[in-house]
Amino acid sequence: MKKAAGSLLALTLCVCMLLCTFAEAALASGGRPKVEWTYPVSLTALQSPHVILVNVDNLLDKKYKPSPLVKVKNVKRATSATVELEETTANALKEMFDAAKAVTSYTYTILDSKGKEKQMVAEFENGMVLYLKSGYRSYGTQATIYANYLDRNNGVDDGYVAKPGSSEHQSGFCADILNKKWAGLDYMNQQFETEAEAVWMKENCASYGFILRYPKEKEEVTGISYEPWHFRYVGKEVAGYIMSRGISLEEFTVESKKAMNEFLEMGGDIEEQMDYEFRTQNAPPESHILDVYGEDGDPEVSLSL
Ligand code: DAL
Ligand code: ZN
Repeated sequence: MKKAAGSLLALTLCVCMLLCTFAEAALASGGRPKVEWTYPVSLTALQSPHVILVNVDNLLDKKYKPSPLVKVKNVKRATSATVELEETTANALKEMFDAAKAVTSYTYTILDSKGKEKQMVAEFENGMVLYLKSGYRSYGTQATIYANYLDRNNGVDDGYVAKPGSSEHQSGFCADILNKKWAGLDYMNQQFETEAEAVWMKENCASYGFILRYPKEKEEVTGISYEPWHFRYVGKEVAGYIMSRGISLEEFTVESKKAMNEFLEMGGDIEEQMDYEFRTQNAPPESHILDVYGEDGDPEVSLSL
């Protein structure tokens, strides 16, 4: 009797040890990382080349050219020239232009000349049509545009055109977008902000991965005058965060770099965290067998997403 009890105990211990080993292995290959990533944007999104900051303090090399760079097709243009964009940006832009096309009526609010809110309704019989004005520009093209602008503006750099190397147009990740009325003009100015298309883009761009890169209230931070037509691709997750917080890409970069430094100081592992994000984002929904039986007599299964 004693011998049987001893064997049972040994067997139980063996099973426990085996289960512990399995649990450890499962944790190593599929558990939570040792150091928790608490910043509201995933580390995977932060590692994307699309979040690169380009400005006077973060210049692109003269020779930098995005790859793959593609011609943007099947969209209306506000220029006779071909417009090129980095491929992911081009696809996202097409998605945004197509979504605009589905808008037949749009109610929006603008500020009148006295700063009072005014509600507007725009009807589009054939959908809202966006016009692509400019995309990728080489360092050389930007140098020419900058020099011409200074010539026209009595040599004054008032923050409308970025110095060569500091323009994110060279990255291929941004586009200047207008509507039909403004596409027909040979100038652009901030009055464009009162157009339905400008308001729609500001409100909806994040759903397609874009941000309004040079907001009115962030001129001091970006160093660039308010541009209601300039949209920058950063990916949907980062765009959603930036636009909902109303911050600039400069502020986002400071904030996210701080989060990354703190994570690394605490012993965080970038690869381990990215692997965890990959697994949890792609994990199939967990299923639970419920203590409820269906008409067929089988237990019901619940899926939790
Ligand atoms: N107009 C923007 C700032 C550029 O030139 O890149
Ligand atoms: Zn631009």
